[in-house]
Amino acid sequence: MLTYTNFPRYLSSKKSVDDRALNQKVWDALASTLDTQDDLEILEIGGGIGTMVERLLENDLLEHVHYTLLDEQAENIAKARQRLSKWADEEGFTVSWEDEVLHLWKMGKVTKITFLAEDLFDFLARQNFDQKYDLLIAHAFLDLVDIPATLPKLFKILRPKGHFYFTINFDGETIFEPEIPHDKEIITRYQQTMDERIIDGKLSGDSHAGRHLFEHLRAAGGEILSAGSSDWVVFSQNGNYPADEAYFLHFIVTTVHDALLRGGEIAPRRIDAWASARHAQITSGALVYIAHQLDFFGKIQ
Ligand SMILES: C[S@@+](CC[C@H](N)C(=O)[O-])C[C@H]1O[C@@H](n2cnc3c(N)ncnc32)[C@H](O)[C@@H]1O
Repeated sequence: MLTYTNFPRYLSSKKSVDDRALNQKVWDALASTLDTQDDLEILEIGGGIGTMVERLLENDLLEHVHYTLLDEQAENIAKARQRLSKWADEEGFTVSWEDEVLHLWKMGKVTKITFLAEDLFDFLARQNFDQKYDLLIAHAFLDLVDIPATLPKLFKILRPKGHFYFTINFDGETIFEPEIPHDKEIITRYQQTMDERIIDGKLSGDSHAGRHLFEHLRAAGGEILSAGSSDWVVFSQNGNYPADEAYFLHFIVTTVHDALLRGGEIAPRRIDAWASARHAQITSGALVYIAHQLDFFGKIQ
């Protein structure tokens, strides 16, 4: 069986899926707030290869911004540095590097990007809780951590009345169509692995993060200004998936396969058969994949 394990390529292939999925009303709430502000300090946590900053620039939402892109994987940050400077050059920005900070100039506006390859919790521990960010972004990230323990720490580095934009928070529904044998068992067990993830000895992850965020955000002192669903919906047209979305699907099937093998509760033979059938459906364009997720925009006091 072919393997699909190139994580930066997965993040790149995910961009067009996310573009379709992001909740427009929540995005508009972010956009109208950014429209009224200048000289912003933005922090994106678990930012991967930088597709969100690309998206914000594509939509002309950033004006005189210092953007810090943090991800624990050095491979992602290396890719982000290379990808963003190349992308910006192609998009007509004037690109320069000053002291490892990427400067992107266009129409008299500048976005300065600092890249940090660091674990979020190490980063937070060395902040002394300086309230210095105006906007905090976490995209396809919060469902990986212990949310109630993490939000209060995140909100302490936001300035008073600072905003948060937390998107693509998984919310308990994974759908593969058409149905094949063992789907129910495989999907149920896969979602359980999200709830059982242990990082540094602590349970980290929530397969229903989306719905739980309503309460977690309020408990941490956040006010939700806009919320809505941002489901991934991936399907082919005339047997072809858009952009690199076939890779996206192969990567998802491989992720489910590998998580279940590690879990050891379902016979490997059955997991392999399920994954082979799903990979074949991607090749033929038959697979439809849907994941239910939620987006949030809000502010603190
Ligand atoms: C699902 S990916 C999403 C990446 C990016 N936001 C995107 O959507 O393209 C989650 C990212 O969080 C990063 N990550 C996970 N745990 C982290 C931590 N404790 N500190 C910093 N980054 C972390 C991973 O390296 C990964 O790039």
